[in-house]
Amino acid sequence: MPLMDLNDMLKHAYRHRYAVGSFGIDDTLFMAGVLQAAEETRAPVVLNLIATHFAEDELESFIPLVMQAAHTATVPVAINVDHLSDGALAQRVMSMGCNGIMIDHSSLRFSENVGRTAECVKLAHQCGVTVEGELGHVPGEPVDGEGGDEQILTSAGEVKAYVERTGIDCLAVSVGNVHGHAKGSKMDLARLVRIHQAVDIPLVLHGGTGLTLEQYRKAIDNGVAKINYYTGLADAISKRIKANLAADHRAVYRDLMHGVTENVRAEAVRCIKSWRSDGRAAEVSAQCRAVGEVEYVATLAVGNTASGKPGIEPVLQEAQRSLASIPGVARVSIGASRTHAGRYCVIVTLVNETAARHFLESQRHRQVTSKLALSYATDWSDGLYVEMD
Ligand code: 13P
Repeated sequence: MPLMDLNDMLKHAYRHRYAVGSFGIDDTLFMAGVLQAAEETRAPVVLNLIATHFAEDELESFIPLVMQAAHTATVPVAINVDHLSDGALAQRVMSMGCNGIMIDHSSLRFSENVGRTAECVKLAHQCGVTVEGELGHVPGEPVDGEGGDEQILTSAGEVKAYVERTGIDCLAVSVGNVHGHAKGSKMDLARLVRIHQAVDIPLVLHGGTGLTLEQYRKAIDNGVAKINYYTGLADAISKRIKANLAADHRAVYRDLMHGVTENVRAEAVRCIKSWRSDGRAAEVSAQCRAVGEVEYVATLAVGNTASGKPGIEPVLQEAQRSLASIPGVARVSIGASRTHAGRYCVIVTLVNETAARHFLESQRHRQVTSKLALSYATDWSDGLYVEMD
């Protein structure tokens, strides 16, 4: 099925007091285990790509695989890229179809965090993408080149202004939660209650590994609608690899990896049940918006006034590059008619309806079309939408 709008998915969880599992996946074995768990429990799920775990090119080559797997799922799936700080990378992952991003400027000062997050929110909302911001800092997953990694608890007095000024859809909170194994500090539930009273949007709990059932329950009862979970899955994999090696010291790669997906599945099932998202897939599919690619098709006829002008091919290539750089454009193809000289078809594929609307209104789109019309007396027919999926 197509991806599910992440904002809709989280609002559903928020209203019905459960949390969607946002499972950190490093490769296809993690991914298969998480998807099997979601299918088995009929739970909506977020496939979470933690940007700090990948080189940029690795992340960009993994995304198409994740997208393909998400589309074959029979439960609602959203794809989120976590702990992004670079706006250009954020734009690229959105144009590849990821429908959620977490912008992490949590170790910067309030005003800087607000300013940079708000900039990304504006762009993401034009692409129909859900944005999570973080106020306060959850230690253990620092983003490159930004401040330290000290725990900073979320100030309940600042959250309202933060949410209003940035326009974020959901908020990651720092209430004693810590990424990774380094647990120890207790959850400050009184702080979480005050945050929940101050803002009426889904809250996100990072550092989901190692908390007790009671802590999960209290978090969910106080506005947490998404729990990020990674280390517990990585541990489940390591445990299996170590057992495989202990059973056979000559084990090669394939033997070592045997059964890791099963361990991820079992751990993800445990989480999903603890967070009460099991059995919610049908309601979410019925009540939330699905998001799928949209195509914009234009035909282009080079008129007589083009005679004597340089070939149109370089101009079309430039137009293709320019259109492809508009946020939310997945790809642009331009093909020449085989039977009618001077006729071309331009197909612009956008990540969803919202992105298509903004594409048509964008200045760059207008510049490209008017440049073509002026230079070549073209006939740029009106766009025609074709829904995919
Ligand atoms: P854990 O690794 O502690 O589960 O946290 C994952 C996380 O919050 C990713 O953003």
